[in-house]
Amino acid sequence: MWLMAVNWSLCFFFGSASNHEDPPAWGSAVLEELVIVIQSQKNSYHAQRGYQRKEKILQDAASLGQGLPVVLLLHELSDYEGNWSILPVLPLLSAIYGESASWFLFVEEETMVVLHVLQKVLKRYPVQEEWFLGQRLHDNKPSIVHHYAFSEDPTSFGYPDPAAGWALSAALHQRLAERIQSENLKSDFTIDLTHEIALFIWEEGRGPKLTTVPEFCSETRDNCATKFTNYLPNCGSPVSKNNIFVAVKTCEKYHSVRVPVVKSTWEKHAVYLEYYSNVTDASIPTINLGVPNTERGHCGKTFAIMRRFLSEAVPKVDWLVIVDDDTLISLPRLRRLLRCYNPKEAVSLGERYGYGLMQNGYSYTTGGGGMVLSRTAVSILLSSGCSCYSDDAPDDMVLGRCFTAIGVPITHSPLFHQAQPDDYAGTRITPQHSVSFHKHWSVDPVAIYTNWLQDSHLKDEL
Ligand SMILES: *[C@@H]1O[C@H](CO)[C@@H](O)[C@H](O)[C@H]1NC(C)=O
Ligand SMILES: *[C@@H]1O[C@H](CO)[C@@H](O)[C@H](O)[C@H]1NC(C)=O
Repeated sequence: MWLMAVNWSLCFFFGSASNHEDPPAWGSAVLEELVIVIQSQKNSYHAQRGYQRKEKILQDAASLGQGLPVVLLLHELSDYEGNWSILPVLPLLSAIYGESASWFLFVEEETMVVLHVLQKVLKRYPVQEEWFLGQRLHDNKPSIVHHYAFSEDPTSFGYPDPAAGWALSAALHQRLAERIQSENLKSDFTIDLTHEIALFIWEEGRGPKLTTVPEFCSETRDNCATKFTNYLPNCGSPVSKNNIFVAVKTCEKYHSVRVPVVKSTWEKHAVYLEYYSNVTDASIPTINLGVPNTERGHCGKTFAIMRRFLSEAVPKVDWLVIVDDDTLISLPRLRRLLRCYNPKEAVSLGERYGYGLMQNGYSYTTGGGGMVLSRTAVSILLSSGCSCYSDDAPDDMVLGRCFTAIGVPITHSPLFHQAQPDDYAGTRITPQHSVSFHKHWSVDPVAIYTNWLQDSHLKDEL
C-alpha cells in the first residue's frame, strides 16, 4: 500500500509540490489535466451565460498562477443539438483529450467552480481507477420521470445533482467512450439526464456507483468545489402581462373537473387566456377550434392554436404559452424568466426531453410542463410546412421534430416540470424556484399550487 503511494507521488505532479503539510495525495489535480464541459445551450441568452462561465473559470485559473484547464461549451462541440445528452459526445472528448486529461467535470452554465478546492478534492481519488463523483440525489418514492426505477427501494440508487456538477476519472471516461462506440446503443426517451447517465455507468452493477463528494455543492456553503445559487435568473423587470397569450387545452370531460382548478389558481395572472375544447361552453368560456377531440396526442388542436395565435382573431403579442388543463403554472415567475429571452429569435422553451438521441433523433419541449414559444418561432414553424401526421399525434414531439428539422433549438429550463413535485428529488426543486408542475393524479392540485408556485407575499394574504 505504502509503496504504491510512493509510486504515485513520483508519477504525478501535485498542485503545489512545495507544500509539505498536505496529507499524502493519491491522484492528480493538475489544472491542465482537467477538462470542464459546460452544459451550454445554443439559444443566445444561454450561449452568453456559457461564455461568461468559461471566462470566469479561465480567469480564476490564471490568477492561481498555474496552467489552464480545458473549458468546453457543449453546444459548440457539434451542430447536432441532441448531444446535450452528453453520452454521444464522450467518444469525441476521448479522442481529443484521452491522452492528456485526468478528469472530466460536467457543470451547468450557472454552476460556479472553485478551482483550488476542486484540486484538493480530486487529489483524494487515484485517477487511474474508475471514479464517478458528485452530490448524491436519490428518489424517495418511485418516480415516473425515472420510469419507476428501483421501486422496491428508490433510495438505493444515487445519481448526481446536475447543479452541483459531476466528474469522471479518465479511466472511467475512456471505458465509457469505448462502450458507446462498440455497443449498439439504443435510446428511446431522454428525460432526466443525470439519472440516465448514472444508470449507464452503473450498468446493472458491473460499473461503479456514484461516490458522494460533499464539496460538490448545490447550494452555497463553506469549502465548496462547486456552488450553485438558483435557476431563476434575474434579467431585469418582468415581461409585461400584456405580452403573453395563454392557450389551455381542455375537452368536455374536464370542464367541471380541471378547468375550475385553473380558475381558482393561476388564471387570474393572465391577461390573454383562452380555453380550447371540443365543445363550446359559454360559462367558461371555451372555444371550439373544429378539431375532433383525441384521447392521446393533441397535434391537430395545437397546430390550430398556433394558427389562431398568428391570426387577427387574438391580440398580437410576443409570447405563446400552451398548457394542458392539468398544468399548474406561475405566470409571474414565467414573466420574470422570459425577460432573459429575445422574442425576435425563434425560442422554444420549457422542460426538454429527447427522443432517439443516440440515433440522431430530436429534442422536444414536453407539453405538460408548458410549451413557451416566441411569435417568431410560431411563424417559422407554420411557414415551414411541417405538420401533424395525424390529429392525435403527440403535439409536443411533433413540434420538437419540426423545430429540429428547421434548426430551431429546443431550450431547456429546469424550472418547468412534466410531473409532480414529489417525482423530483429533494434539493432539485425549491418552492421559490419552479415555474410549472403537471398532473392532478392523486394529489390536491390547489395545494400544490399554493405550496410550490404561489409567491409568498400572496400566500400571506390567505
Ligand atoms: C453527436 O452525436 C452524434 C450521434 O448522435 C455523433 O455522431 C456525433 O459525433 C456527436 N458529436 C460530437 C461532437 O461528439
Ligand atoms: C368531446 O370530448 C369528450 C371527451 O372529453 C367526448 O366524450 C365527447 O364525445 C366529445 N364531444 C363532441 C361533440 O365531440
